Amino acid sequence: MNCRNRWAWWLGIALPGLSLNCAAIVLLACTLVIEMTAPVARAEVIVTEFGKTAEGTAVTQFTLKNSQGAVVKLLSLGATLAEWHVPCKSGQVDDVVFGFDNVAGYESKDNGYFGCIAGRVANRIANARFTLDGKQYELAKNDGPNTLHGGVKRSLDKVVWKGTPIEREGERGVEFKYASPAGEEGFPGTLSCTVKYTLSDTNAVRIEYEATTDQATPVNLTNHAYFNLSGAGSPTILDHELMLAADHYTPINDVLIPTGEIASVVGTPFDFRQFHRIGERVDELTAKPGKGYDHNFVLNNQTGQLALAARVRDPKSGRVLSVFTTEPGIQLYVGNFLTGAKGKGGKTYAYRSGFCLETQHYPDSINQSNFPSVVLRPGETYRHTCVYQIAVE
Ligand code: BGC
Repeated sequence: MNCRNRWAWWLGIALPGLSLNCAAIVLLACTLVIEMTAPVARAEVIVTEFGKTAEGTAVTQFTLKNSQGAVVKLLSLGATLAEWHVPCKSGQVDDVVFGFDNVAGYESKDNGYFGCIAGRVANRIANARFTLDGKQYELAKNDGPNTLHGGVKRSLDKVVWKGTPIEREGERGVEFKYASPAGEEGFPGTLSCTVKYTLSDTNAVRIEYEATTDQATPVNLTNHAYFNLSGAGSPTILDHELMLAADHYTPINDVLIPTGEIASVVGTPFDFRQFHRIGERVDELTAKPGKGYDHNFVLNNQTGQLALAARVRDPKSGRVLSVFTTEPGIQLYVGNFLTGAKGKGGKTYAYRSGFCLETQHYPDSINQSNFPSVVLRPGETYRHTCVYQIAVE
């Protein structure tokens, strides 16, 4: 019986006879005290207002906590992973991902896609154009001659998604939905996207993507979190040690578009089959514009089942990030274009002070017939799972 029903029940029996005796009053009082002090199931997802976009749309923040002292904050703007506070080996809790304290930060030019969902097509489309089923589509150029991360104004990082908390038994998270209308950023078809984040008690953030369309269209979604396992704002990630489950990678040209070759990593600075410090060979990569790792790796697992793709160890904090995915590729980007943006709590995000491991299909797949296809057709469902898990060693 809920509170209102209980009141009605008491009034129903007490008022007709106007025979409220002492016992009834005591009983009523006891019932109310018990109702007010009974433990209320603790809300596991805290929903707060984060501010408004320049256009005036409200942005919601969702806070998830687990039993290990980890806290994750998500934003409806760009379905963004904005904070991840997690203990290190001494028990100290640090926020290990980049972000801003307010919406203006996320809307500023300092935002290098921090923590967002990138799409409709993450990474680059060469010359901002593609042909699908005989029709040519022209997109916006926002990266030299190319399209990067889905376009300029209404790419998936820049729109406000509808977030719904998930508070099921043993599961805490948020489901974000956004329907991108046909023609948005030049892409065909209405694309209905769902991105579900959950936080487990084993410090795993699981991201499940789904999308459907009413017209054939390319889709390649990813999360663009920048990590520094010593805590976001620490000066470098070059001391972090990386392992990638990849025997091959896709070499790129001078505007970071894959040449089409699937090259072996053997004998190159791209060989991370065993752990190597990120900084160990990074300066051997002298090619402009990036000068450093900004490459797609061809994951050994191509089954579409969830498998380990990467591990990163930070000897200083003892934190170890494991990345699992169903996708065929992972983009390793080590913050070569970071220039010292001021982020959360005034922390500085310096050159190479954050790394991204973006699980996805290969860049420019829509123009490269030898790469796994990114075309989604009506009746099909795009599905992608990525798990980021942080442990301590
Ligand atoms: C790309 C980089 C780019 C960065 C931020 C990464 O996914 O590979 O080239 O600078 O995103 O936009």
